[in-house]
Amino acid sequence: MEQAEFRFFGFKEKDRRILADGTLNVKFTLYDGDTRRWLGVTVVGVHRTMTDEWNGTSAVIGWTPIHSALGAGIDSGRLGPDVTAVEVTFGGTILSISRDAGGDATPYVHYVSADSYGLPLDMETVARDQLVELGRLAPWVDMVTTPPSTRSEKLVFKYYSDTDGIPRVWLEVQWLARLSGHPHVMPIRHLVVEEGPERGVVGFTVPFLPGGSLEASRTTRPFKLKWAKQLMQVVDDLNLQHGIAHTDVRLRNIMIDPATDNLVLIDFGTAARQGELNDLAIQGNRDVASVIVLVEELVTRSPTDTEWVTTDLHCDHLNGQGTEGLLQRRPWIADPDALLDHPAEDYRVALVDWLARRRADPRHYHDHADDAPQAFDFPDHMPMPTAEEVRDLVNEQEVPCWNFLRRDAVRTGRAVVDWVRPATVALDRSRTLLATGEYLDDDTADETEGPGQEARRAAKGEKVAKNQRGVRKRRSPRVASLLKKGG
Ligand SMILES: Nc1ncnc2c1ncn2[C@@H]1O[C@H](COP(=O)(O)OP(=O)(O)OP(=O)(O)O)[C@@H](O)[C@H]1O
Ligand SMILES: [Mg+2]
Repeated sequence: MEQAEFRFFGFKEKDRRILADGTLNVKFTLYDGDTRRWLGVTVVGVHRTMTDEWNGTSAVIGWTPIHSALGAGIDSGRLGPDVTAVEVTFGGTILSISRDAGGDATPYVHYVSADSYGLPLDMETVARDQLVELGRLAPWVDMVTTPPSTRSEKLVFKYYSDTDGIPRVWLEVQWLARLSGHPHVMPIRHLVVEEGPERGVVGFTVPFLPGGSLEASRTTRPFKLKWAKQLMQVVDDLNLQHGIAHTDVRLRNIMIDPATDNLVLIDFGTAARQGELNDLAIQGNRDVASVIVLVEELVTRSPTDTEWVTTDLHCDHLNGQGTEGLLQRRPWIADPDALLDHPAEDYRVALVDWLARRRADPRHYHDHADDAPQAFDFPDHMPMPTAEEVRDLVNEQEVPCWNFLRRDAVRTGRAVVDWVRPATVALDRSRTLLATGEYLDDDTADETEGPGQEARRAAKGEKVAKNQRGVRKRRSPRVASLLKKGG
């Protein structure tokens, strides 16, 4: 059976309870990136000496007995879509299953109109139900295509179905919309909006580039010197021209466009204006250090200590082990397994020259975005509902809040966007799965033309109108035309 390559994400501790025998029951909310479902999980019998492990999300993400039990439960249907919470032992035995809708941990997610983004260009929008899912690349990142009736193109759809995604998608759309003409930045194609009447922006698309990231292809695709130089160029343009630090320059965020054979930087969800990050690694220096480390790693295959990236580039304090120390060790010797199109030394020299050029450039020492010749100006945050708009929703401190649960949204008559989709193992490949998570041929009886169609429509309309508390209607009339075209 085909398994999803990624799975659980956003495992957040809610609560822990100490029992008489000294063990703990620890409560989490777990997101399954494959089915896009949330589960309340109580892990029982956690020994106190293990609690340190629970403090970091990453430790928990790697905790396989629980994950495999839950993954297997979801895949087998034992934890079907109506299951809202489970109790599981530390060793991964599922003890109990709850279907109580009142215990549903699914968050409410806030989306805003395309206009609210205030983008400099008139961006094409596409509704979520006009995109067909082709594959799942990462949590909240899918490969999709537009319907066969239009110019079919493979796209990557990045979206959010949780509140943590709000700043990530807001910022990435803002940066990409402004950088889209750059030859080494992934261009943005569409804003993706909900199919319902509110048309909130749930994400965006970019072209899908085949061939994998530099990370995925490092053992098969020679790393060209010109790509190293293009990387230096795009980092300079971001840092010096626009006053932005990408902050996540890594192999997995670098693609090659096969059409142009050029390097393309992706993943601007954590890019920030320089001077607005508050640690040592603030400035473009962080990106510079990342470039040096990743090029060195590709060339010499020495294991990368990512700590280097967060040390100050100018302060080579780790006894020559800092980022610049990498450049001072010479000559660079290519690892026998490294695939390169130039001698190893050429890569080192290119980096050394680059660093010297940067230091001779007065812009290198600007540490605030406002000093950049082409700074971008847009609101740092997505507009959020006002306290007045959410006055009927309070958090545990009884304060009106916008960060609330889906079940409370439904209770108070708010429309919600549904994201649940079949597990990878259960996918029916003979059917077309839309980016909504629904098969295209679901509910065909409702949409087909012919006798009684008017009556069916009226009845359905009435049902929707009556059900003020219901899930937002997910199917747009366009789907009917897709069906007719045989999509
Ligand atoms: N345009 C694209 N073409 C092909 N593959 C892509 C594209 N965009 C993203 N991917 C693949 O999907 C992965 C995740 O995409 P991206 O880095 O944008 O998302 P992310 O959730 O911010 O990732 P992370 O936080 O893990 O870096 C990438 O590492 C890459 O393998
Ligand atoms: Mg990434």
